[in-house]
Amino acid sequence: MPDFFKKKLKSFVRRAVPLNPHTLLSALHAPQKLAEERPGKLTWKRPALAPLLSGQSFPLPPSTLRMGYGDDDADYLAIGQRTATTLRKLLAPTGVTLGAGTRALDWGCASGRVLRNFEPEARAGCEFWGVDQDSPHVDWCKEALSPPFKFGTCTAYPHLPIEDNHFNFIYAISVFTHLVHLMDGWLLELRRILAPGGVGIFTVHDEHTFEFFRDNPGHPPQWMQEHYKEGITGDLDIHILRPDWGHTLTFFKSDYLRKDWGNYFEVVDIVPRAEVFQTAVIVRKRAR
Ligand SMILES: C[S@@+](CC[C@H](N)C(=O)[O-])C[C@H]1O[C@@H](n2cnc3c(N)ncnc32)[C@H](O)[C@@H]1O
Repeated sequence: MPDFFKKKLKSFVRRAVPLNPHTLLSALHAPQKLAEERPGKLTWKRPALAPLLSGQSFPLPPSTLRMGYGDDDADYLAIGQRTATTLRKLLAPTGVTLGAGTRALDWGCASGRVLRNFEPEARAGCEFWGVDQDSPHVDWCKEALSPPFKFGTCTAYPHLPIEDNHFNFIYAISVFTHLVHLMDGWLLELRRILAPGGVGIFTVHDEHTFEFFRDNPGHPPQWMQEHYKEGITGDLDIHILRPDWGHTLTFFKSDYLRKDWGNYFEVVDIVPRAEVFQTAVIVRKRAR
């Protein structure tokens, strides 16, 4: 190939696929929702908040920041409360409590559907954090739910800028259900920031999810139905509908999960369909 042509081709590729910190990091998380974007300038403004509903300590997020949970306000509040109650019930037998001086994390908190219900614990002195790779959701949380909660944006890369052994409790509702990459990296990272003896509760799709849909055929949303028909064919099945997290579905066989996650944690219990059709995996960081 003639030199001049090679040069032209190189410069075309460089322009078409710019590898710079801005494009690379934008691909690893959902960036802030900008008020203005033009060449050379990005402008961000604090999100506006809805007025408080009576009886509520915090405003409600707009429906665009609810990750598809409950367009109806009462429904959104009720399902968040239900999940928080489930978490408290699952946590109680482990002996981990959320009183003053303890620390808890909601990994993949979105706009705090579940976390907002831990207000009594946070006001009583539990340092309660939420992190998510979706900046617009986290920005809303910072404005609406802080204090008493604390928030930070992370990326899809398995790193959280948090000290070792920090949290007594970490939970993630419907995050491993969509994870495609670096699952063991995330398990190792979550183990690093859990205190020895600390507990994690993570929901997953497993064979019990399929049983739920067999018994409740009207339940899965239309776009998921094809993927539920087949059942689990491997130890880990990942369905990629579109390459963004919200359109991937991850399924584990629970015996695989017990063995694999057992490399990183003591697997205390696997509770089928603890969170509607999602199974809860309860793990504990082993003391050294
Ligand atoms: C189905 S939503 C569930 C939201 C929230 N846990 C709830 O139950 O309301 C999944 C959330 O996980 C977040 N997420 C996905 N991958 C993540 C990652 N690697 N690190 C942090 N958050 C992640 C998404 O941005 C999204 O907010």
